[in-house]
Amino acid sequence: MSRPGLFLSALAAFSSLSWARAVDPCAVVAGQLFVLPADALACWKSFPFNETLRQNVLTNNIARVFDFFTFEDYYLDSPPPFQESTANIRAGLARINTTKYKTDYDFNIDLYNFITQLNDGHTRWFPNCYGTYQNLLPAPVVSLEINGVQDVYIVPDLVDFVSLLGPGLYTRLAGAKVISIEGQDPYSYVDFIAKTVSGNYLDHGVRVNSVFSSYRLSSADYSQRFGDLAGPSGVAQTSLTFQVIVAHSTKVETVTLPYIASYLGANFTDGPSYWENNCVATNVTNGVDFKVAGQPKGNIIDKSNSKAVGLPPQFEPTLPTVGGAEGVMKSYILPGNKTGVMFIGSFEGDFNGFQNDTQSAIAAFQAAGVTRLIIDLSNNGGGFVCLGQFLHQYLGGTRIGYPGFQSTNRANPLARKIVASDIALGLNDEFTFYTADNFAFLNGTQMPADYDYMTPDVPIIVNGQVDINSQRFHDTCELSFVVPIPATPPFPLATLMNEKEHSKMVVFGGKPLEAVQFKGMAGNQVLEWFDIDSEIKTANRKHRRSRYPSPFAHYNSDPLAPVDLLVNGDFRHNWRTAWSFLNENEPIAYVSELPQFRFPYTVETYNNPQNLWLFVEKQVLA
Ligand SMILES: *[C@@H]1O[C@H](CO)[C@@H](O)[C@H](O)[C@H]1NC(C)=O
Ligand SMILES: *[C@@H]1O[C@H](CO)[C@@H](O)[C@H](O)[C@H]1NC(C)=O
Ligand SMILES: *[C@@H]1O[C@H](CO)[C@@H](O)[C@H](O)[C@H]1NC(C)=O
Ligand SMILES: *[C@@H]1O[C@H](CO)[C@@H](O)[C@H](O)[C@H]1NC(C)=O
Ligand SMILES: *[C@@H]1O[C@H](CO)[C@@H](O)[C@H](O)[C@H]1NC(C)=O
Ligand SMILES: *[C@@H]1O[C@H](CO)[C@@H](O)[C@H](O)[C@H]1NC(C)=O
Ligand SMILES: *[C@@H]1O[C@H](CO)[C@@H](O)[C@H](O)[C@H]1NC(C)=O
Repeated sequence: MSRPGLFLSALAAFSSLSWARAVDPCAVVAGQLFVLPADALACWKSFPFNETLRQNVLTNNIARVFDFFTFEDYYLDSPPPFQESTANIRAGLARINTTKYKTDYDFNIDLYNFITQLNDGHTRWFPNCYGTYQNLLPAPVVSLEINGVQDVYIVPDLVDFVSLLGPGLYTRLAGAKVISIEGQDPYSYVDFIAKTVSGNYLDHGVRVNSVFSSYRLSSADYSQRFGDLAGPSGVAQTSLTFQVIVAHSTKVETVTLPYIASYLGANFTDGPSYWENNCVATNVTNGVDFKVAGQPKGNIIDKSNSKAVGLPPQFEPTLPTVGGAEGVMKSYILPGNKTGVMFIGSFEGDFNGFQNDTQSAIAAFQAAGVTRLIIDLSNNGGGFVCLGQFLHQYLGGTRIGYPGFQSTNRANPLARKIVASDIALGLNDEFTFYTADNFAFLNGTQMPADYDYMTPDVPIIVNGQVDINSQRFHDTCELSFVVPIPATPPFPLATLMNEKEHSKMVVFGGKPLEAVQFKGMAGNQVLEWFDIDSEIKTANRKHRRSRYPSPFAHYNSDPLAPVDLLVNGDFRHNWRTAWSFLNENEPIAYVSELPQFRFPYTVETYNNPQNLWLFVEKQVLA
C-alpha cells in the first residue's frame, strides 16, 4: 500500500476540527481549501429535501426550458454510433418529479446526472450549491503506446504536475502501468467513467479521451487537464484502488489512492451561510429585460467547460510564437519553415483580437514561406460561433462563400410569441437573439428585424415525433469581421476544414480499437438560463413586479414561460441546430465523421504540444 494523503498538511489541519461534526457538517469544512470528500458531502447533505424547490427547478423552470431544446426528439433514439446518448427526457423528468429524496443534494444530483448523461455540453444543469467542490486524485491517467503496445498509465509527469498543486508523495507512481482500476480492466473502467461521469460529448470515444489527462490552452496559458477520472466534478468517490507496476519494476502492487475535495465556492462559516452564499439565487441568476437593464445582450456562444492546472513549464513549446500570442491562439513555425501551427484553445475572449491574431499569424507564415498548416484544436472549449466561421472564411478565402451552416431553432408556441412580441415592440439584434436581423436568408441577404421566420413554421418528423422548427437561416457573421478576408486562400491548399474543404483530420488517443469521432460538440448556439430568460422578459412575456421580492423578479405571466429560479443555478440548453453540409436533413451533431488519421499518444506527445506537431508534420504532412 502506498501512503495515503496527497495534501497531508491540509488533511491534518482539518482533522483537528472534526469534533464539530455533530453540530453542523458545513462548519467542519468551512474555511478549508482541501477537505475529505466525505466531509464535503456531509455538508452538502445537511440541507433537507424541499418540495417547493423541486417544483421551482424541475417543473416550473427546467421542464419548460426543455421546450426550446432543439435535440429533444432526437434523444428518443439516437442514431448509431451515438446510441449511448439515448433518453426519454420527459419520462426522466417525470421520474425525478416523483422520486422520494431525503436531501436537496439527492434531488439535484439525480437531476444533474440525468442531464449530464444526455452527453451534450450545450445542455447542462449546473446547481451551484453542489458544484462548489471538485474531487482531485493524485493519479491522472493517460493511454500511451510504449514499445508498440497501448496501455493505461499514471501520467509520467506526475511529480511535476501534482507538485503544482501541493506536496506530492507519489513520486513512485509516475509513469506506472495500470493493471486494473477498482478490480476492472483499466480501459473498461475508463469506459464506465465515460458513460457515467464525463458528459459533454455525444460520442463515446470523445468522452473516453476526456477521461484521460491532456494538455490544453486555457485563455493564453498552457495547462493540463486532470481528466474526468482524476478530476471529476463533485465528491461522489472517496478513493480508487489501482493495481500498478511502477517504473523499472515487474511486480504488481495494489495502491488505494484518496480523492481530495478542493473548494471553489464562496466563503462560508456554517450551514446557513453556505446556503446563503452558494445556493440562493443571486442578482445574476435570472434574466433581465434588456429594454430597461441598460446592458447589451451577450454574444453568440457555443462553449464547453473543463478543469485544469498549469502544464509543467518544461512541456510548453520552446519555439517562439509568431503573430499575436496574448489571446486564445498561439502560432508557431516548425523548424524548416514548411509548416505553420495555429493552436486555438477556444473561440472565446477578445473578438477582434482573435481576427487580428489570425491575420498576423498568417502574414508571418507567408513571410517565412510556410506552405502547410496544422490547426490544433485539442480541448478547444468553443466560444463565439462567428470566430469559428471567421477562421474558416479567412483560410478558405471569399471564394468558399458562406462559411457556416444552415440553422434553425424550435418554433414552439412560446418561441413564436417571443418573435411576434419582439416585432410588435420594434426590437432588433441589439436587444434579442430571436429577432430575424440576427440571421440571413439562405441567399445571404440579412433578414429584416420585423421578419417572422417562424411563420410559416416547418414541421419535421424526428423519431416519430412532430418537431416544429423555424425556417432555415444563415448566420450573419461577416457583418462582424473587422479584418479583410482574402479572396483566395492564403495557402495553396485544398485541404482546409473538413466538410467543405476536406482537410486531413487527425485524432490522438482514445481506447485501442474503439472509434473516436473528430467532432466535439456540434450544436450551434447555446443559451444560458440567464439568456433565454432575458429573451422572454425583453419580449414582455413575463411581467415585472415592482417591489417583491426584488427589482429583478418577474412575475410569471405566460403559463409557458419558465419561472425565475429560487436557487443559484444555470440550466443551459442548445438553442439552435446546425444542419450538415453533407446531408441537410441531418443535424451535424448526428453525422458520423471519423478522422482519416488516428494515433495513440506516446510518452513524447501526450503532454507536449510541440512534439505532437512535429509528429504530425512527419507522419501526416510529409
Ligand atoms: C422550502 O424552500 C422555500 C423557498 O426557498 C422556503 O420558503 C421554505 O421555507 C422551504 N421549506 C422548508 C420546510 O424549509
Ligand atoms: C410534477 O408533479 C407535480 C405535482 O403532481 C405536477 O404538477 C407537475 O406537473 C409535475 N412536473 C413534471 C415535470 O412532471
Ligand atoms: C475567503 O476566505 C479566504 C480564506 O479564509 C480569504 O483569503 C478571502 O479573502 C475570503 N474572500 C472573501 C471574498 O471574503
Ligand atoms: C449584483 O450584486 C453584486 C453585489 O452583491 C454587485 O456588485 C453587482 O453589481 C450586481 N450585479 C448586477 C447586474 O446588478
Ligand atoms: C494586432 O496585431 C498586432 C500584431 O500582433 C499587434 O501589434 C496589435 O496590437 C494588434 N491590434 C489589435 C487591435 O489587437
Ligand atoms: C526560416 O525563416 C526565418 C525567418 O523568415 C529565417 O530566418 C530562417 O533562415 C528560415 N529557415 C530556413 C531553414 O529556411
Ligand atoms: C434573398 O431572399 C429573400 C427572401 O426570399 C428576398 O427577399 C431577397 O430579395 C433575396 N435577396 C437576393 C439578393 O436575392
